[in-house]
Amino acid sequence: MKLTGRKELIKVIKDRINKNGSISFRDFMDMALYYPELGYYTSPKVKIGGYGDFYTASELDRAFGELLAKQFIEIYNEKVKERPFQIVEIGAGKGYLAYDILNYLRNNNSEVFENTRYIIIEKSPYHIDIQKEVLKDFKNVEWIQDIIDFEDESINGVIFSNELFDSFPVHLIRKINGKIYEVFIIVDDKDNVKEILKDANEEILRYIKELNINIPDGMQTEINLDAKDYIQKIGKKLNKGYVITIDYGYPSAELYKPYRMRGTLLCYHKHKYSENFYENVGLQDITSHVNFSALKYYGKLAGLEFLGFTDQAHFLTNLGLLDILNELQQRDDYESYERINRLKSLVLPKGMGEKFKVLVQYKNVKKPDIKGLEILPYQSERFRL
Ligand SMILES: C[S@@+](CC[C@H](N)C(=O)[O-])C[C@H]1O[C@@H](n2cnc3c(N)ncnc32)[C@H](O)[C@@H]1O
Repeated sequence: MKLTGRKELIKVIKDRINKNGSISFRDFMDMALYYPELGYYTSPKVKIGGYGDFYTASELDRAFGELLAKQFIEIYNEKVKERPFQIVEIGAGKGYLAYDILNYLRNNNSEVFENTRYIIIEKSPYHIDIQKEVLKDFKNVEWIQDIIDFEDESINGVIFSNELFDSFPVHLIRKINGKIYEVFIIVDDKDNVKEILKDANEEILRYIKELNINIPDGMQTEINLDAKDYIQKIGKKLNKGYVITIDYGYPSAELYKPYRMRGTLLCYHKHKYSENFYENVGLQDITSHVNFSALKYYGKLAGLEFLGFTDQAHFLTNLGLLDILNELQQRDDYESYERINRLKSLVLPKGMGEKFKVLVQYKNVKKPDIKGLEILPYQSERFRL
C-alpha cells in the first residue's frame, strides 16, 4: 500500500509520523479529511453531486428539505414555544438542505419563518463559502464555528444533521485472540504504508464495555469516539427541543455482526467506492457507518431522551411524501416524472429509504411524539438500540 494523493498533505502526514514514530488511523483519517486547507473537506474541490464523489439526499430533491420543514413546523407549533425558535444544522454541505427548508418556511408559514434563527455549524471553509452564496437571500441565517461556542442549555428548537457522523474520523481496531488492538500507521521513504497494532487505549475499551459490544475474533472495525463526544456536546447545549440525526448506520448489535468482519469503512472517489484508504489522500471521502446505539447511550448521559429510531422511508412517508408523489403524478409532465424518479430513490428499500436511518432524541418536551415517527418500521433487531 502506497500513500498517494495530495503531495503537500502527504508531506504533512509523513512529518507527523516521523515526529511521533507512528500515528493512529484515526489521526490519519482526521488529517486526510480535515487538515486545514489540504484535507478532503477543508480544500476547494467539488465533493457532493454529479461532478463530485457522492450524492446526498439534500442534493437529490427539494422534497427532502420540505418534509423536514413540515416536521419543524409541528415542533414549533406544538412542542417548543420559546422564541426565537432555533434550527441548528450541523455539517450543512452545500447548503441546499438549508435552502429548501427556509424556502418552504418562507412560502408556507411566515410566522415560523420570521421567528426562526437558522444556525449552521460547518467545519469546511470551502462549504461555508458555497452555503453563503446559496443562502444569500435569507437574512435569518448565521454561521457558528463550533457547537461549543453556544452557551450551555441555550438552544430551543431543533439540532439536526444529515450525513454528519459518518464523516467523523474513527479509531480502527482489530480483535486478535481475544484482545483488542488499535491500528496505527508508519510510512517508509518510498511512501509505502505499514499498519502496526498497539494495545487499544482505555477509552476504546470503555466504549466497548459500556455499549456491551461483542466483537468477534478476527474482526477489523471502527470505533467512533468523536461521535460519542459530539452527541454529548449537543446534549449539553440543548435547553428544550429535539435532536434529529439522519445517517446510515445500525444499532451496535448489528454493526459488529460477524458478517461485517472488515467493518464498514469505505472511501468514495468520483462515485466509486473502495477500501483503499491510503490512496487519493485529501482527494477522496472516507466514511463509516454510524453506531446509533452509541448516540442514544451517550446522548442520554448528556440529558437527551430517546424518542424513536426509524428509517428514512418511514420518516418521509409519515411527513407526507406520498402526497407529493400523487401531486406530481397528476401533473403528468417531464419534470414531474423526473422528480418522481428522484423521490423514489429517497424511499426505496435496499436503497436510501432503508439504508438511511433517523434517530430522534429530545429534552424538556412534555408530550414529545412527533409526526415523523407516527408509523415505525417493524421493530426488528435492526431497530433496537
Ligand atoms: C457528507 S457531508 C454532508 C453534507 C450535507 N449535510 C448534505 O446532506 O449534503 C458532511 C459535512 O459535514 C461537515 N462536517 C464534518 N465534521 C464536522 C463538524 N465536526 N462540525 C461541523 N461540520 C462538520 C463536512 O465539512 C461536510 O460539509
